[in-house]
Parts: sequence; structure tokens; C-alpha cells
Amino acid sequence: MRSYRKLVTRSTAVGAVALAAFSLQPGSAFAGAPTPQPVGGHTKVVGGTKAAQGEFPFMVRLSMGCGGALYTKDIVLTAAHCVDKSGPDTSITATAGVADLQDSKAINVKSKEVLQAPGYNGKGKDWALIKLDKAIDLPTLKIAQDDKLNNGDFTIAGWGADKEGGDQQRYLLKATVPFIDDATCQKAYGDQLTPGDEICAGKLDTGGVDTCQGDSGGPMFRKDDSGAFLQVGIVSWGEGCARPGKPGVYSEVSTFAKDIKAGADKLGG
Ligand code: ARG
Repeated sequence: MRSYRKLVTRSTAVGAVALAAFSLQPGSAFAGAPTPQPVGGHTKVVGGTKAAQGEFPFMVRLSMGCGGALYTKDIVLTAAHCVDKSGPDTSITATAGVADLQDSKAINVKSKEVLQAPGYNGKGKDWALIKLDKAIDLPTLKIAQDDKLNNGDFTIAGWGADKEGGDQQRYLLKATVPFIDDATCQKAYGDQLTPGDEICAGKLDTGGVDTCQGDSGGPMFRKDDSGAFLQVGIVSWGEGCARPGKPGVYSEVSTFAKDIKAGADKLGG
């Protein structure tokens, strides 16, 4: 079943087992682990490739081992399961502006306050906002206001594991996954899925491409009609990673667009 336990240290083999089933827990705190993870040979998220420096300027790595995106210059949109609760919180570091987390040009900013989705109880509503101590002068990522573009091919990106039980990554990886409709996704997950709150994506037949542990909270996005990036999902959960017949499940951003805006207003952003 889903587990909300936070991994404080990286336990590779043990972690792989613990993370095997339906899991929403964030990956290890990469920022706390100074050893660079070699990304040799296969550069995979799961099934991905390295993103170029500056390709996704809104991408944020969070110190508890999650991803996020700049919603405003001082508010990061992430997953509810990546944070403990709402309230003042100066314990999180957001790293932005780099594809390589070891890049000396990395911008590191502390959190000031967290807003976890009101009513979040582990099923659906998997979004949260993190107010930063300082604004970061980088492009933000627009969020979908309606479901018009909740279809087609989506881009996923993150510093999470490159396979089930795999290591957190030093370099940002990206991949493309097709939309999967609710009825099809419900066949895979039954009542685990909350269709109104969640949008699925992945290669159903073959598997092989997916987000994974440590990618949680990061954005799933596509281009809108004007060619601008638009966030349609937030990495939430899946059974294992990249398994055939087990798509990735993402918070459906359009469902929460108004709540996210209200939350950001409350945080003074
Ligand atoms: N819950 C995971 C995290 O905390 C993300 C899992 C995504 N899984 C998937 N198969 N798409 O990082």
C-alpha cells in the first residue's frame, strides 16, 4: 500500500524493496548527500535523457528529495506528500537554475512557509506550495486552468531514480510520456485512482519510460497553443516505476488551479 514514510538516508537495496509497491514517499535528500551520482552509460530517468542547461528553467530540486516547479518567483508548486504539514518551515532548501545539481551556479534558497493542500489525506489532492525566503529570478511555469490540454504527449523531468530502487541523479533527466485516459488507468489501479484529481501517463504496453522515486512533486508539462510550456500534472505515484500496465499517476493540475491560486495568494505570492 502507499507509504508516507520519509527516507532520511538513502538505503539502496532496502529502499528498492520498500519502494516497490504503491508509494508516494519522496526519494532521499540528495542535497544532503555530497557524493555525486555518476550517470554513466545509460542516461535514464527511467527511459529518459539528460536535459540541457536552461531547457526547463522553472525546475526545482527540493532538499527532502522531491522535485517542484516555480509557480511564481518565490513559490514552488510540489506534491503534498513531499511536505509534512502547513505552516512556517525554514527547513527546506530549493535548488534552481541548474540541470547539474553540482553546478557552482546553482541558486539555493530556503523555504519560509509551506501550504499543504487543504484536506489532503493521502488520496488525491497531492499538491503543496512552498513559499521561499527570497524570489528567484527565473521563468515560472504556467499551470493549466482547464482540461483542454490534458491530452497528447507530456514531458516529465526530474532528478529522481533512473529505475526502481535506483539512485537519485546529479543531472536533470527528461522523457516523453503519452496521456492515458481515466478509464484505462482505472483498469490498472482500480479504486487506488481518484480520477477527478489524477491524470495518468506512460507507455502502457511496453513500460520503460516513467517518473520514479525522487521525481515526486516535479511537473508534467507540454506546450500550449502559443508554444509556451504549460503544467498539466504533478508527479505523485505509481506501482513501481515504468512497469508495463502500470502508468505514472500525476495530480491533475487543472482540477486544483483555483485552489493553487488561492493558496499562493494566502502565502502572499
Ligand atoms: N512517489 C514518488 C516520489 O515520491 C514518485 C513516484 C512516481 N512513480 C511512478 N511510477 N511514476 O518521488
